[in-house]
Amino acid sequence: MSAKKDVDKLDEKEAIAELKRLGKKIKKLDALYYEKDSSEIPDASYDALRNRLEGIEKRFPLLVQPDTPSEKVGSAASARFAKVEHKVPMLSLRNAFDEEDVKEFLASIRNFLGLGEEDFIAMTAEPKIDGVSVSLLYEAGRFVRGATRGDGREGEDISENLRHIEDVPKKLAAGKHPGLIEVRGEVYMDRNHFLEFNKRQEKAGEKVFANPRNAASGSLRQLDSSITAKRPLGFFAYGWGEMSDMPWSTQSEALKTLEDWGFKIAPTQSCSSLDEMFAAYRKLESKRADLPYEVDGVVYKIDRLDWRERLGTLSRSPRWAIAHKLPAEEVETVIEGIDIQVGRTGTLTPVARLKPVHVSGVTVSNVTIHNEDEIARKDIRIGDSVIVRRAGEVIPQIVSVIKKKRRKGAKPFAFPRKCPECDAEALRETNVGSGEESVARRCVAGLTCPAQALERLVHFVSRNAYDIEGLGRKSLEMFFKEDIIRHPDDIFTLEKRDGDGHTPLAEREDWGEKSARNLFDSIDSRRKIPIERFLFGLGIRHIGEATARLLALHYGSLQKLRAALESISVEKGKVLGGASWDELLAIDGVSATLAEPLVLFFSEEHNRAVVDGLLNAGVEVLDAETPGGESPLRGKTVVFTGKLVAVTRAEAKARAQMLGAKVVGAVSGSVDFVVAGEAGGSKLKRAKELGVEVISEEEWQKRCGAVS
Ligand code: IVH
Repeated sequence: MSAKKDVDKLDEKEAIAELKRLGKKIKKLDALYYEKDSSEIPDASYDALRNRLEGIEKRFPLLVQPDTPSEKVGSAASARFAKVEHKVPMLSLRNAFDEEDVKEFLASIRNFLGLGEEDFIAMTAEPKIDGVSVSLLYEAGRFVRGATRGDGREGEDISENLRHIEDVPKKLAAGKHPGLIEVRGEVYMDRNHFLEFNKRQEKAGEKVFANPRNAASGSLRQLDSSITAKRPLGFFAYGWGEMSDMPWSTQSEALKTLEDWGFKIAPTQSCSSLDEMFAAYRKLESKRADLPYEVDGVVYKIDRLDWRERLGTLSRSPRWAIAHKLPAEEVETVIEGIDIQVGRTGTLTPVARLKPVHVSGVTVSNVTIHNEDEIARKDIRIGDSVIVRRAGEVIPQIVSVIKKKRRKGAKPFAFPRKCPECDAEALRETNVGSGEESVARRCVAGLTCPAQALERLVHFVSRNAYDIEGLGRKSLEMFFKEDIIRHPDDIFTLEKRDGDGHTPLAEREDWGEKSARNLFDSIDSRRKIPIERFLFGLGIRHIGEATARLLALHYGSLQKLRAALESISVEKGKVLGGASWDELLAIDGVSATLAEPLVLFFSEEHNRAVVDGLLNAGVEVLDAETPGGESPLRGKTVVFTGKLVAVTRAEAKARAQMLGAKVVGAVSGSVDFVVAGEAGGSKLKRAKELGVEVISEEEWQKRCGAVS
């Protein structure tokens, strides 16, 4: 494909074709961006497409298509929203699916805080509104900026749209408020408004939304705020983020004050026992159908903020709250086929193709069946009538097969023994930890299997790994097919090789000079990468973000990590052990099952070549940043033994980690000190033998407190 002609050189016929092509493309990208929160190309390339479209329309005003995207949204300059950093991350909630989960939640809080059965824990029970969470910033009592949640750390500035929502106070009601306050809550569309709105959309030939949540989300992300203004949106406040000072000490006080300031608060109950929490849950469940808005659960939050502070957060959710989900909706449909997908680590996953059905607000046409045992256990066959369940954001699943309706002659599903993508053998391995056969059947071909190689690349560039903007699945597929990108390091030599034996990006349709430049720039911007992202990006089995972080903190640098892992002896795909293996297993949160694939990965030549390839291609892996700032505990390795009095073991451990210390389970020469609670046993003896410092719990508290 040749480079695109300048706008002022186009003739009429070419202009018509270009307008059609660009219109279609922009609409497709808009749909992806607004409805699925994803983009296939960098923002600047999108802007270039719009500029070109508008340029042509300006030159040929008579050719403007009736459905041109240029009239739907604002000017090209505002083609995308500005980014907003959330100084206090916007977290999500863990889910509890039954009363047992809620009991466990409370028990773990008692355990963490060292409270007894009889101790009173005040909670709030709030409805979990099924909408879109937003952050509203107030300075000197005035609304100054509003943003979406985004990935929790960075959202988009949608201030103008939020200004049009009546429930969002533009000025806080009189009273004493902190100079700066960020209120968080949920924007939603109520059910009646949603139905009416969809009817209007349909009549006007506009997009119809699957559920109120999508409608709220789509409405908030309009570039033209006059469109948002016409959408019937509401807002409930439930929390806060950044604050110049803290005006309350409990959640209930906060909600009351927010209400006084002019915010709407969804009906909330105060509870002090499990019975009261469950009563609140059942009450919401019974009212669910009559509520004007959609709810998908009850959020229980610890009322006392000092306790919340101590409880802290897990990686994406607080320890002090949980969402108790309302039961899922179930519907009946038919399985039209079963496809086998090959994932990043070679796992063959069966996916049932369904006759599309509407359940809990969305249309479902595919469901994953976990593995071949699941197919056998539920005896799922092609053509079967099945019950499908979907709860909130949880992925839909097949609950059961309606055997009575089974057609005569339906055969049990024969799970393939070979990889459908590369025809290599697909095996079930034995798990090192349990000695049991793994439930997953995996293609043994590794990176020579095209499906695995591609999935690994997709993972490599994904948001929580390398996060390369403009390099999505579709482009990777194209590069992969043309043999331009086969391994991760190829991404970093893409620009250097551009045009070698293939059409340069700038000359391709759908790319062009600007997009090519943008892609190269976004790749360049990722040449320096924190070690935890680097590790996560390698796509090693079981090494998720949390484990990657643990490893990064423990070893500090890629060099040290590699040296340790590569010194572990491996024979015929089995780890033999040794001091470095013991060290690895001593990391709190790392088990043998988790560690084995990691060691095996670094024992294989072709994997080491991937790592070396990246380094040679100019990737610089940044050492881990140990948290803890000035704390004397930063970088120290600690062992706890015996019963602690002032805090629980869990709290002490969490605090140590926050201050940059490593907590390990066993005493060895590399341990800096052992904290001895009451009745410490063999670990104390071992510490004395090795001459490791032993300190009292009191001394430990002092060291924890000695932070500036
Ligand atoms: S609290 C740190 N309270 O649920 C706690 N969330 O998965 C963060 N939500 O993103 C949220 N009603 O969009 C909280 N009363 C409520 C809520 C609520 C709805 C949504 C919110 C959040 C998601 C959590």
